[in-house]
Amino acid sequence: MKILVTGGAGFIGSNLVKALLDRDDIHLVRVLDNFATGHLSNIEEFLDNPRFELVEGDIRNPEDCLKACNGIDAVSHQAALGSVPRSIADPITSHNVNVNGFLNMLEAVREKGIQRFVYASSSSVYGDLNESPKIEKRVGKVLSPYAATKMTNELYAEAYAKNYNLSIAGFRYFNVFGPKQDPNGPYAAVIPLFVKSALNNVPPTINGDGSITRDFTPVANVVNINILALLGYLEGSKHYVFNVACGNTTDLLSIWKMVKEIAKSNVNAVHGPVRKGDILFSLADVSFAKEILGYKPESDLKRALTEAVEYYKGL
Ligand SMILES: NC(=O)c1ccc[n+]([C@@H]2O[C@H](COP(=O)([O-])OP(=O)(O)OC[C@H]3O[C@@H](n4cnc5c(N)ncnc54)[C@H](O)[C@@H]3O)[C@@H](O)[C@H]2O)c1
Repeated sequence: MKILVTGGAGFIGSNLVKALLDRDDIHLVRVLDNFATGHLSNIEEFLDNPRFELVEGDIRNPEDCLKACNGIDAVSHQAALGSVPRSIADPITSHNVNVNGFLNMLEAVREKGIQRFVYASSSSVYGDLNESPKIEKRVGKVLSPYAATKMTNELYAEAYAKNYNLSIAGFRYFNVFGPKQDPNGPYAAVIPLFVKSALNNVPPTINGDGSITRDFTPVANVVNINILALLGYLEGSKHYVFNVACGNTTDLLSIWKMVKEIAKSNVNAVHGPVRKGDILFSLADVSFAKEILGYKPESDLKRALTEAVEYYKGL
């Protein structure tokens, strides 16, 4: 089995590459990445592995997508520009990467006769849906350009699966965290920001009063579901969409308290305004992924946060 991971130098992609290379049944793991938000340091440990290949390229360029798909059996498409605020600041670039790049990858897969394609969607597609927990069949109206790009991905995936005999699985990741998640830059996610603050004794800013909730998900769950869908049984000519989360909800203040305790920090948080485009409460129903793929989420947040804190201490 030869697998292409786009965005493999990023947080989720590099964790997936590591897990794939640990398996004997995977003969090649190729990464396509342009290092827009990913880092060479995330994949440095694999560069000497004869079963690993790096294609430096851009999913906005169809030729790069075709080159990366040569001889590949299945694709895990993780490359995208994440972050709701980034998409509000620059919707065109988010569209070009997340939608046009996505379509280029689907076209490359079609042209090369690859039948299995799994990809990163996002819980942001639930938008303003005022229902909890979220189930895959019902979505609301999107609240940001980022969510619009991920919703568009799902529409194209549906059309490609039906018309070109592909098996496609889209993953609506809820808030993922773990080792190799970038703590730097204006669009860093909340858990790496909290850990960085705790380790450096700098007060973190909590958006709102801390009561915003998320279904925070250790990256191991995301890695596992990608592998289950890449290697397991999926029907032909079918597009599946799965929630990927723990199925538990935790508020920001509780996460900060856990991080503070694990990092043994004395610093106190300050509060800022709720960000535009942000969903206030988020909880997933993960029973569809359990039923179809045998997904078993690891939901020990404290253990996963401890792993993340250890990683950031070592940086
Ligand atoms: N982290 C989360 O909580 C979360 C939640 C929902 C969805 N997602 C989605 O999961 C995927 C992976 O996210 P992540 O958190 O690992 O982000 P990340 O930024 O760490 O990884 C994205 C990777 O894609 C690469 N990339 C960006 N633009 C590219 C381009 N034009 N051509 C080639 N490569 C490009 C980046 O360099 C990076 O290595 C993304 O599709 C993201 O939208 C993530």
